[in-house]
Amino acid sequence: IQTHQSLQSLNTFGVPARADLVVATDEAETADWLRRNERPLRVLGGGSNVLLRSDPKEVILLNRIPGRQLEPYGEDVLVTFGGGENWHEGVLYTLERGLGGLENLSLIPGTMGASPIQNIGAYGVELKDVFRALRALDLQTGEARTFQADELEFGYRDSVFKRALKGKMLIVSVTLRLHRDPYRTHVSYGAIQKVLDERGIDRPTVRDVSEAVIRIRQSKLPDPAVIGNTGSFFKNPVLTAAEFAELERRHPDPVHYPLPDESFKVPAGWLIDQAGWRGKTVGNVGTYEHQALVLVNRGGATGAEVWDFAQQIQADVARKFGVKLEAEVNLW
Ligand code: EPU
Repeated sequence: IQTHQSLQSLNTFGVPARADLVVATDEAETADWLRRNERPLRVLGGGSNVLLRSDPKEVILLNRIPGRQLEPYGEDVLVTFGGGENWHEGVLYTLERGLGGLENLSLIPGTMGASPIQNIGAYGVELKDVFRALRALDLQTGEARTFQADELEFGYRDSVFKRALKGKMLIVSVTLRLHRDPYRTHVSYGAIQKVLDERGIDRPTVRDVSEAVIRIRQSKLPDPAVIGNTGSFFKNPVLTAAEFAELERRHPDPVHYPLPDESFKVPAGWLIDQAGWRGKTVGNVGTYEHQALVLVNRGGATGAEVWDFAQQIQADVARKFGVKLEAEVNLW
Protein backbone atom coordinates (compact mmCIF):
# COMPACT_ATOMS: atom_id res chain seq x y z
CA ILE A 1 0.00 0.00 0.00
CA GLN A 2 1.33 3.38 -1.01
CA THR A 3 -0.07 5.87 1.47
CA HIS A 4 -1.64 9.28 0.80
CA GLN A 5 -1.20 9.21 -2.98
CA SER A 6 -2.55 11.91 -5.27
CA LEU A 7 -5.45 10.71 -7.41
CA GLN A 8 -5.52 13.86 -9.55
CA SER A 9 -3.89 12.25 -12.59
CA LEU A 10 -5.90 9.05 -12.04
CA ASN A 11 -9.32 10.67 -12.67
CA THR A 12 -10.17 12.30 -15.99
CA PHE A 13 -12.02 15.20 -14.32
CA GLY A 14 -8.57 16.04 -12.95
CA VAL A 15 -9.92 16.97 -9.53
CA PRO A 16 -7.60 16.72 -6.53
CA ALA A 17 -7.99 13.92 -3.98
CA ARG A 18 -5.73 11.67 -1.96
CA ALA A 19 -5.98 8.09 -0.75
CA ASP A 20 -3.95 5.00 0.03
CA LEU A 21 -3.29 3.07 -3.16
CA VAL A 22 -2.61 -0.49 -4.28
CA VAL A 23 -1.89 -1.34 -7.91
CA ALA A 24 -3.16 -4.70 -9.20
CA THR A 25 -1.07 -6.05 -12.09
CA ASP A 26 -1.50 -9.79 -11.72
CA GLU A 27 -4.54 -11.90 -10.88
CA ALA A 28 -2.92 -14.50 -8.62
CA GLU A 29 -0.93 -11.96 -6.67
CA THR A 30 -3.99 -9.74 -6.25
CA ALA A 31 -6.16 -12.66 -5.12
CA ASP A 32 -3.54 -13.50 -2.53
CA TRP A 33 -3.38 -9.92 -1.32
CA LEU A 34 -7.18 -9.68 -1.11
CA ARG A 35 -7.31 -12.78 1.09
CA ARG A 36 -5.01 -11.07 3.59
CA ASN A 37 -6.35 -7.52 3.30
CA GLU A 38 -8.77 -6.27 5.93
CA ARG A 39 -9.27 -2.68 4.87
CA PRO A 40 -12.28 -1.53 2.83
CA LEU A 41 -11.48 -1.13 -0.88
CA ARG A 42 -12.68 0.75 -3.92
CA VAL A 43 -11.67 -0.26 -7.44
CA LEU A 44 -10.48 2.39 -9.86
CA GLY A 45 -9.94 1.72 -13.57
CA GLY A 46 -9.32 4.58 -15.98
CA GLY A 47 -10.98 7.08 -13.64
CA SER A 48 -13.13 8.27 -16.55
CA ASN A 49 -16.53 7.71 -15.01
CA VAL A 50 -16.07 8.79 -11.43
CA LEU A 51 -16.39 12.07 -9.57
CA LEU A 52 -14.19 12.28 -6.47
CA ARG A 53 -16.21 14.59 -4.25
CA SER A 54 -13.79 14.18 -1.35
CA ASP A 55 -10.82 12.04 -0.29
CA PRO A 56 -11.87 8.36 -0.33
CA LYS A 57 -11.50 6.68 3.08
CA GLU A 58 -11.05 3.28 1.43
CA VAL A 59 -7.84 1.94 -0.09
CA ILE A 60 -7.95 2.48 -3.85
CA LEU A 61 -7.28 -0.69 -5.82
CA LEU A 62 -6.05 0.43 -9.22
CA ASN A 63 -6.83 -2.15 -11.90
CA ARG A 64 -3.83 -2.45 -14.22
CA ILE A 65 -4.10 -6.17 -14.98
CA PRO A 66 -2.85 -6.66 -18.57
CA GLY A 67 -3.65 -9.32 -21.17
CA ARG A 68 -4.77 -9.82 -24.78
CA GLN A 69 -5.66 -13.21 -26.15
CA LEU A 70 -7.46 -14.47 -29.27
CA GLU A 71 -9.21 -17.80 -29.67
CA PRO A 72 -11.23 -19.06 -32.67
CA TYR A 73 -14.89 -19.75 -31.94
CA GLY A 74 -16.57 -21.31 -34.98
CA GLU A 75 -16.71 -18.55 -37.57
CA ASP A 76 -16.11 -15.98 -34.84
CA VAL A 77 -13.25 -15.10 -32.51
CA LEU A 78 -13.22 -14.79 -28.74
CA VAL A 79 -10.99 -12.00 -27.50
CA THR A 80 -10.01 -11.84 -23.85
CA PHE A 81 -8.57 -8.64 -22.42
CA GLY A 82 -7.10 -8.04 -19.00
CA GLY A 83 -9.33 -5.76 -16.92
CA GLY A 84 -6.64 -3.08 -16.74
CA GLU A 85 -6.20 -2.76 -20.52
CA ASN A 86 -7.22 0.55 -22.07
CA TRP A 87 -10.56 0.18 -23.85
CA HIS A 88 -9.76 2.09 -27.05
CA GLU A 89 -6.34 0.46 -27.48
CA GLY A 90 -8.19 -2.85 -27.25
CA VAL A 91 -10.67 -1.73 -29.90
CA LEU A 92 -7.81 -0.79 -32.24
CA TYR A 93 -6.08 -4.11 -31.53
CA THR A 94 -9.19 -6.01 -32.70
CA LEU A 95 -9.73 -3.82 -35.78
CA GLU A 96 -6.08 -4.28 -36.81
CA ARG A 97 -6.69 -8.03 -36.77
CA GLY A 98 -9.73 -7.72 -39.02
CA LEU A 99 -12.26 -8.26 -36.25
CA GLY A 100 -15.58 -6.45 -36.10
CA GLY A 101 -17.99 -5.67 -33.29
CA LEU A 102 -16.30 -2.92 -31.33
CA GLU A 103 -16.07 -0.21 -34.02
CA ASN A 104 -19.07 1.81 -32.79
CA LEU A 105 -17.51 1.86 -29.34
CA SER A 106 -14.25 3.43 -30.57
CA LEU A 107 -12.61 6.12 -28.44
CA ILE A 108 -14.64 5.50 -25.29
CA PRO A 109 -12.33 6.39 -22.41
CA GLY A 110 -11.63 3.91 -19.62
CA THR A 111 -10.59 0.32 -19.16
CA MET A 112 -11.77 -3.08 -20.37
CA GLY A 113 -12.59 -4.09 -16.80
CA ALA A 114 -14.92 -1.15 -16.35
CA SER A 115 -16.81 -1.68 -19.61
CA PRO A 116 -19.38 -4.19 -18.29
CA ILE A 117 -20.07 -2.27 -15.11
CA GLN A 118 -22.26 0.27 -16.83
CA ASN A 119 -22.65 -1.67 -20.10
CA ILE A 120 -20.91 1.07 -22.09
CA GLY A 121 -22.67 2.12 -25.26
CA ALA A 122 -22.46 4.52 -28.17
CA TYR A 123 -23.93 5.00 -31.64
CA GLY A 124 -26.45 2.18 -31.47
CA VAL A 125 -24.21 -0.51 -29.96
CA GLU A 126 -23.77 -1.57 -26.35
CA LEU A 127 -21.16 -3.79 -24.74
CA LYS A 128 -23.80 -6.47 -24.14
CA ASP A 129 -24.08 -6.98 -27.93
CA VAL A 130 -20.56 -8.48 -28.04
CA PHE A 131 -20.06 -9.54 -24.44
CA ARG A 132 -19.50 -13.21 -23.67
CA ALA A 133 -18.03 -13.69 -20.18
CA LEU A 134 -15.85 -12.15 -17.52
CA ARG A 135 -13.68 -13.24 -14.66
CA ALA A 136 -13.69 -11.35 -11.38
CA LEU A 137 -12.22 -11.54 -7.91
CA ASP A 138 -14.36 -11.13 -4.83
CA LEU A 139 -12.82 -8.16 -3.03
CA GLN A 140 -13.52 -9.68 0.35
CA THR A 141 -12.33 -13.26 -0.11
CA GLY A 142 -10.08 -13.04 -3.17
CA GLU A 143 -12.09 -15.89 -4.70
CA ALA A 144 -12.33 -15.97 -8.51
CA ARG A 145 -15.69 -16.20 -10.21
CA THR A 146 -16.72 -16.43 -13.85
CA PHE A 147 -19.87 -14.70 -15.07
CA GLN A 148 -21.70 -15.38 -18.34
CA ALA A 149 -23.63 -12.65 -20.13
CA ASP A 150 -27.03 -13.75 -18.87
CA GLU A 151 -25.92 -13.41 -15.23
CA LEU A 152 -25.06 -9.75 -15.50
CA GLU A 153 -28.52 -8.12 -15.84
CA PHE A 154 -27.31 -5.70 -18.51
CA GLY A 155 -29.52 -2.66 -19.06
CA TYR A 156 -29.08 0.91 -20.28
CA ARG A 157 -25.85 2.02 -18.55
CA ASP A 158 -26.56 -0.65 -15.98
CA SER A 159 -25.55 -4.13 -14.77
CA VAL A 160 -25.50 -6.23 -11.63
CA PHE A 161 -22.22 -4.44 -10.76
CA LYS A 162 -24.22 -1.27 -10.16
CA ARG A 163 -26.75 -3.16 -8.02
CA ALA A 164 -26.36 -6.38 -5.97
CA LEU A 165 -22.60 -6.64 -6.66
CA LYS A 166 -21.85 -2.94 -6.42
CA GLY A 167 -18.35 -2.35 -5.06
CA LYS A 168 -17.80 -6.06 -4.41
CA MET A 169 -15.70 -7.31 -7.35
CA LEU A 170 -12.50 -6.63 -9.27
CA ILE A 171 -12.93 -7.53 -12.95
CA VAL A 172 -9.71 -9.25 -13.99
CA SER A 173 -10.65 -10.09 -17.59
CA VAL A 174 -13.41 -9.62 -20.11
CA THR A 175 -14.13 -11.95 -23.05
CA LEU A 176 -15.85 -10.58 -26.14
CA ARG A 177 -17.20 -12.41 -29.18
CA LEU A 178 -16.18 -10.66 -32.39
CA HIS A 179 -16.73 -11.51 -36.05
CA ARG A 180 -14.56 -11.54 -39.17
CA ASP A 181 -16.95 -9.96 -41.67
CA PRO A 182 -15.57 -6.50 -42.56
CA TYR A 183 -18.93 -5.40 -43.98
CA ARG A 184 -21.13 -6.35 -41.03
CA THR A 185 -21.69 -2.86 -39.61
CA HIS A 186 -24.24 -0.86 -37.60
CA VAL A 187 -24.71 2.50 -39.26
CA SER A 188 -28.34 3.26 -38.39
CA TYR A 189 -27.24 6.11 -36.11
CA GLY A 190 -27.74 9.25 -38.23
CA ALA A 191 -24.45 10.92 -37.37
CA ILE A 192 -22.43 7.91 -38.63
CA GLN A 193 -24.32 7.78 -41.90
CA LYS A 194 -23.70 11.49 -42.37
CA VAL A 195 -19.91 11.16 -42.00
CA LEU A 196 -19.85 8.16 -44.37
CA ASP A 197 -21.88 10.11 -46.96
CA GLU A 198 -19.53 13.08 -46.68
CA ARG A 199 -16.59 10.77 -47.32
CA GLY A 200 -18.37 9.09 -50.24
CA ILE A 201 -18.33 5.63 -48.66
CA ASP A 202 -21.38 3.61 -49.63
CA ARG A 203 -20.13 0.18 -48.57
CA PRO A 204 -18.43 0.85 -45.24
CA THR A 205 -16.12 -1.58 -43.49
CA VAL A 206 -15.86 -1.85 -39.73
CA ARG A 207 -12.71 0.29 -39.92
CA ASP A 208 -14.59 3.01 -41.82
CA VAL A 209 -17.23 3.00 -39.10
CA SER A 210 -14.57 3.23 -36.41
CA GLU A 211 -13.03 6.23 -38.16
CA ALA A 212 -16.45 7.89 -38.49
CA VAL A 213 -17.16 7.35 -34.78
CA ILE A 214 -13.77 8.77 -33.85
CA ARG A 215 -14.53 11.87 -35.94
CA ILE A 216 -17.94 12.37 -34.36
CA ARG A 217 -16.64 11.91 -30.84
CA GLN A 218 -13.75 14.29 -31.44
CA SER A 219 -16.13 16.96 -32.75
CA LYS A 220 -18.67 16.62 -29.91
CA LEU A 221 -16.83 15.45 -26.86
CA PRO A 222 -13.88 17.14 -25.15
CA ASP A 223 -10.62 15.16 -24.93
CA PRO A 224 -10.08 14.47 -21.22
CA ALA A 225 -6.33 14.91 -21.76
CA VAL A 226 -7.05 18.55 -22.68
CA ILE A 227 -10.20 19.47 -20.69
CA GLY A 228 -11.09 17.49 -17.58
CA ASN A 229 -14.41 15.65 -17.98
CA THR A 230 -16.05 12.24 -17.63
CA GLY A 231 -18.29 12.19 -20.72
CA SER A 232 -22.02 12.20 -20.11
CA PHE A 233 -22.58 13.31 -16.53
CA PHE A 234 -26.25 12.26 -16.35
CA LYS A 235 -28.22 9.37 -17.84
CA ASN A 236 -30.82 10.06 -20.47
CA PRO A 237 -34.06 9.96 -18.46
CA VAL A 238 -36.79 7.51 -19.42
CA LEU A 239 -40.24 9.03 -18.88
CA THR A 240 -43.59 7.30 -18.49
CA ALA A 241 -46.34 8.40 -20.89
CA ALA A 242 -47.79 10.63 -18.14
CA GLU A 243 -44.41 12.21 -17.36
CA PHE A 244 -43.80 12.79 -21.05
CA ALA A 245 -47.22 14.46 -21.42
CA GLU A 246 -46.24 16.78 -18.57
CA LEU A 247 -42.97 17.62 -20.35
CA GLU A 248 -44.91 18.38 -23.56
CA ARG A 249 -47.12 20.74 -21.58
CA ARG A 250 -44.00 22.68 -20.56
CA HIS A 251 -42.14 22.45 -23.89
CA PRO A 252 -43.95 22.34 -27.24
CA ASP A 253 -41.58 19.97 -29.04
CA PRO A 254 -39.26 17.86 -26.91
CA VAL A 255 -36.60 15.71 -28.63
CA HIS A 256 -37.52 12.14 -27.72
CA TYR A 257 -37.15 8.47 -28.67
CA PRO A 258 -40.20 6.25 -28.08
CA LEU A 259 -39.27 2.93 -26.45
CA PRO A 260 -41.06 -0.39 -27.10
CA ASP A 261 -42.71 -0.35 -23.64
CA GLU A 262 -44.49 2.97 -24.37
CA SER A 263 -42.07 5.04 -22.37
CA PHE A 264 -39.96 7.84 -23.84
CA LYS A 265 -36.24 8.47 -23.64
CA VAL A 266 -35.40 12.17 -23.65
CA PRO A 267 -31.79 13.30 -24.14
CA ALA A 268 -30.49 14.81 -20.91
CA GLY A 269 -28.14 17.00 -23.01
CA TRP A 270 -31.12 18.50 -24.81
CA LEU A 271 -32.95 19.21 -21.51
CA ILE A 272 -29.85 20.88 -20.03
CA ASP A 273 -29.35 22.86 -23.24
CA GLN A 274 -33.02 23.99 -23.31
CA ALA A 275 -32.75 25.03 -19.67
CA GLY A 276 -30.02 27.44 -20.79
CA TRP A 277 -26.96 25.70 -19.41
CA ARG A 278 -24.99 24.82 -22.55
CA GLY A 279 -21.55 26.45 -22.47
CA LYS A 280 -22.24 28.04 -19.09
CA THR A 281 -19.47 28.30 -16.49
CA VAL A 282 -19.76 28.87 -12.74
CA GLY A 283 -16.41 29.28 -11.02
CA ASN A 284 -14.14 26.54 -12.37
CA VAL A 285 -16.88 24.25 -13.69
CA GLY A 286 -19.01 24.40 -16.80
CA THR A 287 -20.88 22.47 -19.45
CA TYR A 288 -19.17 21.78 -22.78
CA GLU A 289 -20.12 24.15 -25.62
CA HIS A 290 -20.89 21.33 -28.09
CA GLN A 291 -22.62 18.91 -25.72
CA ALA A 292 -24.34 20.20 -22.59
CA LEU A 293 -24.41 16.74 -21.00
CA VAL A 294 -20.67 16.87 -20.48
CA LEU A 295 -19.50 18.79 -17.42
CA VAL A 296 -16.00 20.16 -17.73
CA ASN A 297 -13.27 21.25 -15.36
CA ARG A 298 -12.27 24.69 -16.61
CA GLY A 299 -9.09 24.42 -14.51
CA GLY A 300 -8.62 24.07 -10.78
CA ALA A 301 -12.07 22.67 -9.98
CA THR A 302 -12.59 20.45 -6.96
CA GLY A 303 -14.93 17.46 -6.96
CA ALA A 304 -17.21 19.21 -4.47
CA GLU A 305 -17.49 22.18 -6.85
CA VAL A 306 -18.37 19.92 -9.79
CA TRP A 307 -21.03 18.22 -7.67
CA ASP A 308 -22.47 21.56 -6.57
CA PHE A 309 -22.71 22.66 -10.21
CA ALA A 310 -24.33 19.34 -11.20
CA GLN A 311 -26.94 19.77 -8.48
CA GLN A 312 -27.76 23.27 -9.72
CA ILE A 313 -28.46 21.78 -13.16
CA GLN A 314 -30.56 18.99 -11.67
CA ALA A 315 -32.66 21.47 -9.69
CA ASP A 316 -33.15 23.80 -12.65
CA VAL A 317 -34.15 21.02 -15.07
CA ALA A 318 -36.57 19.65 -12.46
CA ARG A 319 -38.08 23.10 -11.95
CA LYS A 320 -38.38 23.93 -15.67
CA PHE A 321 -39.33 20.56 -17.14
CA GLY A 322 -40.43 18.39 -14.19
CA VAL A 323 -37.71 15.83 -15.09
CA LYS A 324 -35.33 14.35 -12.56
CA LEU A 325 -31.81 13.80 -13.91
CA GLU A 326 -29.85 10.94 -12.43
CA ALA A 327 -26.04 10.92 -12.39
CA GLU A 328 -24.43 8.53 -14.88
CA VAL A 329 -20.97 8.90 -13.37
CA ASN A 330 -20.11 7.18 -10.10
CA LEU A 331 -20.22 9.63 -7.21
CA TRP A 332 -17.53 8.98 -4.61
N1 EPU B 1 -28.62 17.75 -27.72
C1 EPU B 1 -28.87 19.09 -27.66
N2 EPU B 1 -28.01 19.89 -26.97
C2 EPU B 1 -26.91 19.40 -26.34
C3 EPU B 1 -26.65 18.03 -26.40
C4 EPU B 1 -27.52 17.21 -27.11
O1 EPU B 1 -29.86 19.59 -28.20
O2 EPU B 1 -26.19 20.18 -25.73
C5 EPU B 1 -29.52 16.87 -28.51
C6 EPU B 1 -28.85 16.43 -29.79
O3 EPU B 1 -29.03 17.34 -30.83
C7 EPU B 1 -29.53 15.12 -30.08
C8 EPU B 1 -29.82 14.56 -28.69
O4 EPU B 1 -29.75 15.66 -27.80
O5 EPU B 1 -30.77 15.35 -30.71
C9 EPU B 1 -28.88 13.45 -28.28
O6 EPU B 1 -27.53 13.91 -28.29
P1 EPU B 1 -26.30 12.96 -28.69
O7 EPU B 1 -26.56 12.31 -29.98
O8 EPU B 1 -25.05 13.73 -28.52
O9 EPU B 1 -26.34 11.77 -27.66
P2 EPU B 1 -26.62 11.72 -26.08
O10 EPU B 1 -27.92 11.03 -25.89
O11 EPU B 1 -26.46 13.04 -25.45
C10 EPU B 1 -25.57 9.36 -25.70
C11 EPU B 1 -24.64 8.75 -24.69
C12 EPU B 1 -23.19 9.04 -25.07
C13 EPU B 1 -22.93 8.46 -26.45
C14 EPU B 1 -23.90 9.10 -27.45
C15 EPU B 1 -23.81 8.50 -28.82
C16 EPU B 1 -25.84 8.70 -22.57
C17 EPU B 1 -25.99 9.28 -21.22
N3 EPU B 1 -24.92 9.27 -23.36
O12 EPU B 1 -25.43 10.77 -25.59
O13 EPU B 1 -22.36 8.36 -24.15
O14 EPU B 1 -21.60 8.69 -26.87
O15 EPU B 1 -25.26 8.89 -27.00
O16 EPU B 1 -24.35 7.23 -28.83
O17 EPU B 1 -26.53 7.74 -22.92
C18 EPU B 1 -21.17 8.61 -22.08
O18 EPU B 1 -21.92 7.73 -21.63
O19 EPU B 1 -20.27 9.13 -21.37
C19 EPU B 1 -21.37 9.05 -23.45
C20 EPU B 1 -20.63 10.03 -23.98
